[in-house]
Amino acid sequence: MKILVVGGGGREHAIAWRLSKDPVRHEIYCAPGNAGTASVAKNVPLHAENIEGIVAWCVDERPDLVVVGPEAPLVAGLVDALESEGIKAFGPVAAGAQMEGSKRFAKEVMQAAGVPTGRAEVFSDPEKAKAALASFGLPVVIKADGLAAGKGVVVAETLAQAEGAINDMLVANKFGNAGAEVLIEEFLDGEECSILALVDGENALLLPSSQDHKRIFDGDKGPNTGGMGAYSPAPVVTDDMLPEIRDRIILPVVRELANRGVVYRGILYAGLMVTPEGGRLAKSGSRINVVEFNARFGDPETEAVLPRLGGDFSRALMNAATGCLSSGDIVVRPEMSATVIVASGGYPGAYEKGKPISGLDAAERKGAMVFHCGTKREGAQVLTAGGRVLSVTGLGSTLREAVDTAYAGVGEISFQRAYHRNDIAHRAFDRS
Ligand code: AMP
Ligand code: GLY
Repeated sequence: MKILVVGGGGREHAIAWRLSKDPVRHEIYCAPGNAGTASVAKNVPLHAENIEGIVAWCVDERPDLVVVGPEAPLVAGLVDALESEGIKAFGPVAAGAQMEGSKRFAKEVMQAAGVPTGRAEVFSDPEKAKAALASFGLPVVIKADGLAAGKGVVVAETLAQAEGAINDMLVANKFGNAGAEVLIEEFLDGEECSILALVDGENALLLPSSQDHKRIFDGDKGPNTGGMGAYSPAPVVTDDMLPEIRDRIILPVVRELANRGVVYRGILYAGLMVTPEGGRLAKSGSRINVVEFNARFGDPETEAVLPRLGGDFSRALMNAATGCLSSGDIVVRPEMSATVIVASGGYPGAYEKGKPISGLDAAERKGAMVFHCGTKREGAQVLTAGGRVLSVTGLGSTLREAVDTAYAGVGEISFQRAYHRNDIAHRAFDRS
């Protein structure tokens, strides 16, 4: 197959790499890609948000399938534009991508479908929002409605923090249009996990569970990031929960969207909160509640999950994109995985780019897989080009082995002010 992967991060490198491992050989392209994707695909110099440029390229090149990585082009209607040219694409149409693009819309869909989630109310008037805080108690969660690059959520421990977040969004317009409405949401107690579901408009197959590490520092301290590491499977999700997640969360959303005339195809990513035995149950009464939906593969979850998939990945993506998923499309290998992000010092705040990276081959010789998140090639040299620079994944027959392999790889890699967390998978180890 001729396949175009849209995006240029670790997620897209992992998608292109996994396609390159299929039993059938593909011709793979990546737009815009990075120094890592160039080893498994041909990079096309088009930005992921250049909808017109990508559609024009596809009209000329006629790929069999386009796999869209990031949310912005999905929300902007790339899949709709490709479909109108008769080009098959993996990812939801813009109306479906609103599950990620608008937290208000996602909440309405969940409420209509009876999906367990935190109680929430929507406000555009700051005084009314503040007046409503009392009924939520503390902590309380304040969310900007629209896409805010992962920064639009504040978990407020005090009333002053909650009011400050409301002022930032509704008075100071810190997030522009994305913060023109806020949701005040019930705080959910428990442990988070990520479930990526492959959806074909009607049916869904769950990929193996995983857990992200959103905070920058060890022990889950410091500011939120795009994700500093992941591992799969996440033991907080026990096997008996999987049918419940599919039948009470994923499928009701897909059906509710279909009732509204939206055929959802692609990945539906559920960020879930699992309340421990004896923990404070949410108003929904359920132990498993949805924190958020995303309309795409997670990053870095993808770098941990895809290496665990066997079989023909292109067929699974194509079947989802064309409405004919079947149960054999996902084959899970027994190995466990762990992914450690190597970031630029200063991230998620200001950081420098253009630092030469060494040790990439040595890391692979230690048995790790290195996916590039933010890199570019200049001559023979690979340079840093983003906040998250590399995703280093290890596989193993135990989680300890997977984590050790990933860190053995990380130990070989160096660039000026490289930073990584040292405790990826700590929640899994804390259990045992
Ligand atoms: P989101 O962008 O919606 O995933 O929110 C970012 C992070 O904020 C989540 O990963 C959670 O750690 C936290 N969060 C969001 N909503 C809630 C909630 N209702 N209760 C507890 N934590 C939350
Ligand atoms: N790792 C979180 C996300 O992809 O949204």
